[in-house]
Amino acid sequence: MSEYQTLIIEQRGAVTLVTLNRPEALNALNAQVLADLLAAIRAFDADDSQGCAVITGSAKAFAAGADIKEMQAMDFAAMYGSDHFAGWDVFTRTRKPVIAAVAGYALGGGCELAMMCDFILAADTAKFGQPEIKLAVTPGMGGSQRLAHAVGKAKAMEMCLTGRMMDAEEAERAGLVARIVPAADLVEEAVKTAATIAGMAPLAVKANKEMVNAAFDMGLSQGVQFERRLFHGLFGTADQKEGMNAFVEKRPGNWQGR
Ligand code: CAA
Repeated sequence: MSEYQTLIIEQRGAVTLVTLNRPEALNALNAQVLADLLAAIRAFDADDSQGCAVITGSAKAFAAGADIKEMQAMDFAAMYGSDHFAGWDVFTRTRKPVIAAVAGYALGGGCELAMMCDFILAADTAKFGQPEIKLAVTPGMGGSQRLAHAVGKAKAMEMCLTGRMMDAEEAERAGLVARIVPAADLVEEAVKTAATIAGMAPLAVKANKEMVNAAFDMGLSQGVQFERRLFHGLFGTADQKEGMNAFVEKRPGNWQGR
């Protein structure tokens, strides 16, 4: 029996494949999904044999949002008192890369979860949206902020105010997704991409992730300085010597992770 009620976890070499598995609710994100995902992502982050994770859903839905039935009866005191959804911030503190492989609906919290990942690979069937306004609320897991960063104010504002969905083509044009792949190939392509990342020197992977993310929190000169310091720091690693020696000697690098 899996220790996870709402996830299927597989290790494929150095890649952890996490499949959201609440088909009866189109993978709606309830407290159990959050608890399972946090446990799974912590285990992944702590496992030195694992270099990159992929999160995916079903062919029909990556995730159709936060669980509306769970929130329906909650009042302000319950929401504010428990700082509802704050747990998702923990998910974003994962230091190794996480790829979202999205097919079908990524709506509300589903779109927000995909955007919390380091990048999104979209099936040609993917549909993204922040339809919370139709429920008389707003995004609550970072969607208004991350969508605005990803696609700019005009599209983010239009999507949040109308609740309309964006298809994969539009999402790629707008910069929300890295690439579109045929739905049938989505998971294999995401795992292959994750394996490429997992094959890189582990400290350089963490540093690259950390510095691109810094671009969303820092001003330009501060961010460029942060980049340079991390770059300098990697010259204190054995893998930098190995990587540059391997290039000069025309052979693949053999990483030690230090
Ligand atoms: N929460 C709880 N249950 C959900 C759900 C959600 N977000 N989305 C779908 N479901 C459930 C449905 O209630 C239904 O269950 P029952 O069979 O028990 O009625 C089951 O999943 C299948 O859904 P549908 O019958 O609706 O499937 P469909 O193919 O007709 O429609 C859909 C698909 C367009 C995605 C539609 O399900 C839908 O609009 N879902 C809600 C989308 C939404 O509003 N998401 C935002 C949620 S709020 C949020 O996420 C807040 C935040 O910022 C964090």
